[in-house]
Amino acid sequence: MSTDQEAPASRQQKPRRPTEMPGVLKLWETSPTGLDPRVDLFLSSLAVDSRLLEVDLEGSAAHAAMLGVKGIIPQSSAKALTDALAAMLAEARAGALKPDASAEDVHSFIELELTRRLGDTGKMVHAGRSRNDQVALDMRLYLRQAFNEAKVGVLDVIGSLCDLASANLEAYMPAYTHMRRAQPSTLAFHLLAWCAALERDWGRFDDAAKRADECPLGSAAVAGSGLPLDREAVARALGFARPSRNAMDATADRDACVEYAAAAATLLMHLSRYCEEIILWSSAEFGFMDIGNECSTGSSIMPQKRNPDVAELVRGKTGRVFGSLVSLLTIQKGLPLGYDRDLQEDKAAVFDLRDTLAGVLPAFVALVEALKPKPAAMAAALETGFAEATDLAELLVAKGVPFRDGYAATKAAIAAATGKGIGLAALSDADLAAVSGAFAQAGIKAADLAAYLNPSACVARRNLVGGPAPVRTAEEIARLRHFVEDSSQQ
Ligand code: ARG
Repeated sequence: MSTDQEAPASRQQKPRRPTEMPGVLKLWETSPTGLDPRVDLFLSSLAVDSRLLEVDLEGSAAHAAMLGVKGIIPQSSAKALTDALAAMLAEARAGALKPDASAEDVHSFIELELTRRLGDTGKMVHAGRSRNDQVALDMRLYLRQAFNEAKVGVLDVIGSLCDLASANLEAYMPAYTHMRRAQPSTLAFHLLAWCAALERDWGRFDDAAKRADECPLGSAAVAGSGLPLDREAVARALGFARPSRNAMDATADRDACVEYAAAAATLLMHLSRYCEEIILWSSAEFGFMDIGNECSTGSSIMPQKRNPDVAELVRGKTGRVFGSLVSLLTIQKGLPLGYDRDLQEDKAAVFDLRDTLAGVLPAFVALVEALKPKPAAMAAALETGFAEATDLAELLVAKGVPFRDGYAATKAAIAAATGKGIGLAALSDADLAAVSGAFAQAGIKAADLAAYLNPSACVARRNLVGGPAPVRTAEEIARLRHFVEDSSQQ
């Protein structure tokens, strides 16, 4: 038996170079040698970047039209190119234009396909541009959609939280610090805290989209072109605010990808925290709310269980999103300017981010819609734990007692109430007098405390801007609804 026959099948099929297999000829290859097939496979980005087919066709059409207008190629050739690109775009939208697997990337495929359809005219399209320009442009066009999608998704989340908040303006519950009961609050206020962060998240996507609003076409790989390109016209045709300001930066820069990832990571960090709260609140230990069956799952073995899988998976996806951000930053940190092939790795991260957001945001809205708060259980958490203690200290301040003395008197009152196993409002005048002279001095009567320290009174008093008083939370919901409405029309 020969050695060859003994070799496993997988080894026998491995491509070999250069003697046994022909090289692979690329768009840029003019020598007959061709590329080692193993290298060809390694370098190809087509499987990933074919998602850029439509945006690349749009960019190519704008470039070709400009070449005609400027007389760099004959008008008739420009017309043939733009017609063919329009036909290819229609085919791409119908799913009928499949990139040929032998092309190195989607940009090469389009030029090769134009040449296949138009002959020599197809070869004119690449005057004054490079694939470096194309990929930079395509990512900006792609991110324009991704930014918009993220912004709409965040607005949907805020809308769903406003609905839940407006139904729970007076659903009293403790506000927590250090995961300990801290002060009386409402569910509406807590949900509006979530919205405050989400509004900033929306702003991060919006700001980043504005910074990304520059057209890299005409960079011509790195140092610009000597051809009389009209960069302003191409930028306008593609809906950009302006052409990019430096050809070298435009082709080497992936800040828009990083900013998209950073905004996504911050958003997911927030959603992950909220999911953690939902998981806690819906546990038997808290019992503040249920998650409807439409958004919870059962166990395959434990018949009694309903699990908060949606919240858990959002929390889990957060790790993946952070990973994309770190990957985009790390890919770039050692790169000299201009373009380096390392940058090809940007796409997998950005595409994964968009897919992840497209899954997470609607699922989170569904989760919010499925929450069924239990106001009695939330209010019961205010019956013990002295969340109203700050209110008593502030009452003393309002009657002229220095805060630190009021704090000490309240702390002593808490110790007395704890000793008796009662709440602050149940202390007698004699109890108050026994713990501190401050109460009598301030004219505070035990009989008045029950009404004063009631959760609804505590919350109603917190009616400063940014506070939980129902009048304030109702105003904030109205403001947020306007924000959602105005921003949806952008
Ligand atoms: N496929 C490449 C990428 O995604 C396109 C640019 C290639 N440019 C080059 N000079 N090799 O980054």
